[in-house]
Amino acid sequence: MKLRLRVPTGFAWVFATAFVLCSTATFSSAPAFAAAPNRVTSIFKPLSTPAQAVYEISLLALAICGAIFLVVGGLLAYTIVRFRRRPGDEVREPPQVYGSNQIELAWTVIPILIVFVLILATARTIYDVQGAIPPADALNVTVVGHQWWWEIRYPKLGIVTANELHVPVSETSKRRPTFLKLESADVAHSFWVPQLAGKTDVIPNRQNLMWIEPIQPGTYVGNCAEYCGMQHARMLLRVIVHPPEDFERWVAAQQEPPVGDPQMVAGRDVFFATSCVNCHAIRGTKAMGKFGPDLTHLMSRQTLGAGVVANTQENLQTWVRDPQHIKPGALMPNMQLTDNELDRIVGYLLTLK
Ligand code: CUA
Repeated sequence: MKLRLRVPTGFAWVFATAFVLCSTATFSSAPAFAAAPNRVTSIFKPLSTPAQAVYEISLLALAICGAIFLVVGGLLAYTIVRFRRRPGDEVREPPQVYGSNQIELAWTVIPILIVFVLILATARTIYDVQGAIPPADALNVTVVGHQWWWEIRYPKLGIVTANELHVPVSETSKRRPTFLKLESADVAHSFWVPQLAGKTDVIPNRQNLMWIEPIQPGTYVGNCAEYCGMQHARMLLRVIVHPPEDFERWVAAQQEPPVGDPQMVAGRDVFFATSCVNCHAIRGTKAMGKFGPDLTHLMSRQTLGAGVVANTQENLQTWVRDPQHIKPGALMPNMQLTDNELDRIVGYLLTLK
């Protein structure tokens, strides 16, 4: 008797565990760093056209799968209770049923129809999202995945930044979608901001395309969604959606060269005398490294280390002293700076507003 009961209980545990795993995987991918004003990372709160399409198809798939679960689980529960073993069963054999055309037809045709509905609905969504034609004034941005940060380039605007994608909001009166070209500098990554669009892989030697069309200003968080090495979990992303005039202001500020501060000349000299310049670029100077993030307007960014810590003077100091302390495995090494060099370099970096 015990053995018979154990089978359904085992199934129940498998279902329960799978459910918990799936739901946590969907809802708890929020980054560790808490300064983001909007920390929702759920696909169930879409605020962008392609994300809305993904949301709708998810609801349909969930509803169909939920109905199947209820029917199968309900019948299973009913059968377990209704036909459970009773005293006297040892001497009787249950009725033996062989074949039933109606039942076999039903369990063949109904699933085929369900799968067909899912295929058609999914194909339509994919076509709607992937087939979208960029309007003439769409913003074009190239995003390059690196271990473990995002390079963000605005080719037509001449802006290069990192880890924070600034875009205009799309209004019904004036749609402003942003089209992204995704490239990788090393391994496979995946670009994912759940409220704005589905995931798109970022693959070496290939250009993948996607678009977002946020309909509400704010800061949206996302992350790399493809395991890409030790600090994959700390390859965070922010999309900052501006009202149109704000976005124009941001563009104008980023296009300016960094404002020099004569008091920081000493720091600047230390910076240019170390190998910092081999990896980092500061527009208008001889620092033209491409390996690490562009520092032209470093202090306009909210975070350091791709979302790991807030971009404050204290954290910047800790980061420059030893990035490995904050982000072990980061490709920026400990430069073994003396305290004096460190103070001067950080003093200079703080002027890159
Ligand atoms: Cu990049 Cu995971």
